[in-house]
Amino acid sequence: MQSRRLRTNTGNGALLTGLREAARFGAHELVHADALDWLATARSNSIHAVVTDPPYGLVEYRPAELAKRKNGHGGVWRIPPSFDGHQRSPLPRFTVLREPDRAQLRDFFRQLAARLFPVLVPGAHVFIATNPLVSYLVYEPFIAAGFEKRGEIIRVVHTLRGGDRPKNAHEEFDEISVMPKSCWEPWGLFRKPCQGRVQDNLRKWKTGGLRRISPDEPFKDLLHAAPARGVERAIAPHPSLKPQSLMRQLVRAALPLGDGVILDPFMGSGSTIAAASALGLRSVGIEKSDEYFRLAQQAVPRLAELIVKDRNGQGE
Ligand SMILES: C[S@@+](CC[C@H](N)C(=O)[O-])C[C@H]1O[C@@H](n2cnc3c(N)ncnc32)[C@H](O)[C@@H]1O
Repeated sequence: MQSRRLRTNTGNGALLTGLREAARFGAHELVHADALDWLATARSNSIHAVVTDPPYGLVEYRPAELAKRKNGHGGVWRIPPSFDGHQRSPLPRFTVLREPDRAQLRDFFRQLAARLFPVLVPGAHVFIATNPLVSYLVYEPFIAAGFEKRGEIIRVVHTLRGGDRPKNAHEEFDEISVMPKSCWEPWGLFRKPCQGRVQDNLRKWKTGGLRRISPDEPFKDLLHAAPARGVERAIAPHPSLKPQSLMRQLVRAALPLGDGVILDPFMGSGSTIAAASALGLRSVGIEKSDEYFRLAQQAVPRLAELIVKDRNGQGE
């Protein structure tokens, strides 16, 4: 793996604004930059799909919040209750977001959608991870920027968030939950409008549809993927690590002809990039934090090597 300043194959030949360091190996490009800065200089019509898990709440990756997470109390990170002797990882608590935080989120996604739009080829799909409490703050800005909402993918997952009895009144209200216990994770699915018919767009830009699971089975909007396994967590100890079993299903669907470049503007430890690599797809990952960029550099090739069983027990 090399680490150097480079010209991006998605840029217009100019060095990227905001790029501090980048590493490239095989079909991957890992960029240490602010995603909004990177998008502002990326070449038009150069990305064929986006699969990303953005910094929801924005606040959760601020140094003060990460410090509270490390100390184990307070802030946006909530420590889920321990069951079966296993301590769960902290989760962001989006119910603490206030109106100024929500306004900031809306503005962030407005800027993201506006900058992504010209960089994507017509027919490019965007898969964006969200959660039931804040998804509306993403969807509306994407639609306002010109994207078509094509659906929502439901990942069945048991996060242990919600479902608790009223705080400090557990016994009095023994039969009450304040919120439903969350058992699913929504992923917004958007598309930049096609040029002409889908078939025309597929021929010209290689995008517009989703890759089928098999000739007999279309990609579906209900996915089962267990949380990241211990071995994945050991390789990539990022607080929001997504499992390879999920990411490989998504990146595969995102390039209908298996050709083109997938972008993850918020790659964290690089689970999207690793999934693309495992499937032989080209990708670009952006990460702003020094710590997580370094983590991705070492984690991506190791995550990509893992054998992940699909629901038929086949290895990928
Ligand atoms: C939810 S995490 C993604 C985790 C990833 N799915 C994984 O499996 O490791 C979001 C990431 O976006 C990064 N980030 C936040 N703001 C950013 C920005 N403006 N540009 C690039 N990266 C950013 C955070 O440091 C964090 O690592």
